[in-house]
Amino acid sequence: MKIKLAQTRKQKPDFNNLGFGKYFTDHMLVMYYSNGKWGEPEIVPYEELKLDPCTNILHYGQGIFEGVKAYKNDEGKINTFRLNDNLDRMNRSAARLCMPQFDTKVVFDAICELVKIEEDWIPTAKGTSLYIRPTMIANDKALGVHAAKNYIFFVILSPVGNYYAHGLTPTKIMIEEKYARSCIGGTGECKCMGNYAASILAGEIANQKGYDQVLWLDGNYMKYVEEVGSMNIFFVLNGVVVTPMLDGNILDGITRRSTIAVLKDAGYKVEERHIEIKELVDAYNNGTFDECFGTGTAAVISPVGVLHYNGVDMVINDNKMGKIAEYAYNTITGIQTGKIEDKFGWVIKIK
Ligand code: COI
Repeated sequence: MKIKLAQTRKQKPDFNNLGFGKYFTDHMLVMYYSNGKWGEPEIVPYEELKLDPCTNILHYGQGIFEGVKAYKNDEGKINTFRLNDNLDRMNRSAARLCMPQFDTKVVFDAICELVKIEEDWIPTAKGTSLYIRPTMIANDKALGVHAAKNYIFFVILSPVGNYYAHGLTPTKIMIEEKYARSCIGGTGECKCMGNYAASILAGEIANQKGYDQVLWLDGNYMKYVEEVGSMNIFFVLNGVVVTPMLDGNILDGITRRSTIAVLKDAGYKVEERHIEIKELVDAYNNGTFDECFGTGTAAVISPVGVLHYNGVDMVINDNKMGKIAEYAYNTITGIQTGKIEDKFGWVIKIK
């Protein structure tokens, strides 16, 4: 792997006031695909990509990405979390979008090297981390809708705090009744750029109405709950944890998988299945809607305090974080930061 270090270094931001995705480190990883194969990964100074205006990613959106985090503990040890699972998922997204597979071991090692080079950028305060954003874009210089023959794979790093500006205060979510994110046979389970672009309008409308994000219903029947734009969703109904099943329409979230595993391990009953919106409304009306929370790399475990549907604000658990969400949050962040023993084998020691 080639490494070209930056001549000058950026001034670091205030690590106590990071927000999400605003600052980027001194270096990035790039790897080019042409003539049917990937070139060697290179670590280079962080720089703008130069794209011809006709490059097909700019027109047809053949692009995918991932989100992973690295953590530094008080002794300076650096961990990342389930990076291999994210890279496997990225290759699955690539297959769906007709993009080339990459060698996950090569990319895994290159990302670990990049994180080591940028270790001074890893914040250590509670709730902060170094967000890793692997991305792959089509790079053919021609118009016409077809699978590109050239690609750029790059990884940028961003020191981050909470995804939601209000931190762990419960979010207000609007259940979207008009627009849909995915449908049978679509790209719902992929982490592809177009899924996020298509979600923006509903999110903006929800924001104008005072909600943080939308919870999508399935695009076929507008009946089953699916996911929130930046996280998978969990409910606790009458003491049982339920979450939408992986049916091809929702993202196979790594934090979703981790949450299911830690909750089952702690003895909670967890069901992955289709959940009708009517079931949630009924549970709310009969007093058995105990908790609601979202899971995601960026969002970690985010409690949901209000779910709006059909003109009604359903206030859940008195708009407070519930005990199951809190248990999942403490356990998963504890494992990620090395404070809790990782009996699942998820933590990857970088240094
Ligand atoms: C993540 O959770 O890492 C994501 O990519 C979600 C994104 C909308 C910030």
